[in-house]
Amino acid sequence: MDRFSLKGKVALVTGGTRGMGEATAIGFAEAGADVAVTGRKLPELEQVADKIRKLRRKSIAVTAHLGHVEEIQSLVDKVVKEFGKIDILVNNAGTNPALSSTMEMTEKLWDAVMNLNLKGLFFLSQAVAKVMKEHGGGAIINVASIAGVKPELNPQAAHVYSISKAGVIMATQVMAVDLAPYKIRVNGIAPGLVKTKMSLSGFEVMPGREEMLLKRTPLRRLGEPDDVVGAMIYFASDASAWVTGKTLEVDGGELLT
Ligand SMILES: NC(=O)c1ccc[n+]([C@@H]2O[C@H](COP(=O)([O-])OP(=O)(O)OC[C@H]3O[C@@H](n4cnc5c(N)ncnc54)[C@H](OP(=O)(O)O)[C@@H]3O)[C@@H](O)[C@H]2O)c1
Repeated sequence: MDRFSLKGKVALVTGGTRGMGEATAIGFAEAGADVAVTGRKLPELEQVADKIRKLRRKSIAVTAHLGHVEEIQSLVDKVVKEFGKIDILVNNAGTNPALSSTMEMTEKLWDAVMNLNLKGLFFLSQAVAKVMKEHGGGAIINVASIAGVKPELNPQAAHVYSISKAGVIMATQVMAVDLAPYKIRVNGIAPGLVKTKMSLSGFEVMPGREEMLLKRTPLRRLGEPDDVVGAMIYFASDASAWVTGKTLEVDGGELLT
């Protein structure tokens, strides 16, 4: 199993306070990595960092609003100051506001979603890639969504979210080509519905959504945060050494139907 080991690696996981980011940070620590977690809320981040330390791995919690590009460099500097390098970056932080159909969209909402889901992801990747280049390479993993592959039919769904996640899938391909000369691989995952704070708030505004999603998911269950961790470890580790630019759907088969 050595090819899946993250021993000696340093990872930075965004959106590490809860949900898939927390599950990934802990999964990486179990696989041997030291892990920096970032989000906006320090107390929650510290709890995750404590769980990682209990696994006898090093961890720091650093706050940053990743929709604000000016906060990115100091985040990267703090992680490098603590650990000396970054081998793995997981761009997981994201936002998915409901009620943003084409007719209802406002510029403010558009900017809030795009600034975090796409612009923040791109410029954090750029800043971390400069560190990875100095240390001989690395792995970047972007969290897209199956919503970035096909539009939601529900008029109440967040269509700007789908547009941003389609951008994430293309950003993964563009960065994979651009960063390959520096031995930096860039891949992504596109989850289906995973039960987290973000997705559960969607059930409140869209009654019947859970039943509808279950019906069209061949594996007949919604995802749990832990369901994405295997794919994350695969893309972070040498197990995927010859894979770059790919976005793997982790969705219980939903896109097949
Ligand atoms: N859940 C799903 O069904 C689903 C499906 C497909 C894709 N996704 C994607 O998966 C990723 C993780 O989502 P999740 O479902 O695990 O959601 P979640 O549990 O709500 O977690 C979202 C994370 O993003 C962080 N975050 C939010 N706004 C931020 C900002 N402006 N700056 C920095 N960090 C911020 C949050 O931390 P703070 O609140 O501390 O800032 C939190 O850690 C997102 O990119 C999402 O689009 C989710």
